[in-house]
Amino acid sequence: MRIPPQPSEERSQRALAGLLGTPPLHPLLEAAARGEFPPWTQAGPPRREHMRRVAALLGEWARLRGEGPVEEARWRAAGLLHDVLRDADPRTLRGGLPPEFRDLPDKVLHGPAAAHRLREEGVADGELLEAVRFHTLGWPHFGPLGWALYAADFLEPGRQFQEEWRRDLRARAPADLEGVAKEILRARILYQAERGRPLHPWTVAFWNRLAQGQPWANASEL
Ligand SMILES: [Fe+2]
Ligand SMILES: [Fe+2]
Repeated sequence: MRIPPQPSEERSQRALAGLLGTPPLHPLLEAAARGEFPPWTQAGPPRREHMRRVAALLGEWARLRGEGPVEEARWRAAGLLHDVLRDADPRTLRGGLPPEFRDLPDKVLHGPAAAHRLREEGVADGELLEAVRFHTLGWPHFGPLGWALYAADFLEPGRQFQEEWRRDLRARAPADLEGVAKEILRARILYQAERGRPLHPWTVAFWNRLAQGQPWANASEL
């Protein structure tokens, strides 16, 4: 359950690299930002279309937020790569993961597996790896990129459900990533709870982080 969050150091290294005029992104991320999937991608054509739409949405949000060209590329790369192992055999993915991820359900293994593989390929961008690793379950230490990927995965326009609500959230996202991520998480938690399903502790921790500052219930409430 314990994975040390450490993106700030890498973020400052990237900023320094930018100031020095050296390429700040790993070549694999630069290629992904251009729309190129790594050769080890295991995702079929419909899945790749979904990843392209998530990448496009993230690039648009980064641009509207004025993040600058390097961040735009980095956000697009996160979108293109988040499901890069989505269609791999879960049994194979499980065996290659660190112990803290091996008990996860099949459907959510692909996030940790993609982050693990990207790290093996030399990607050392901790914030991006966290965003990819936890894009399904959520994670309390997400920053803007983590919130953005969590939201864009749900809001990309190719998905066909609750279109009016999702269009509204897409429009709000660039200015309020955290608020939009919270609204999506709330809907997902309610959906799970109404069906009597369990919530993963990381998802609960994500909610508690986003609900920080709200009072606990009084004894007279519910
Ligand atoms: Fe996914
Ligand atoms: Fe996805």
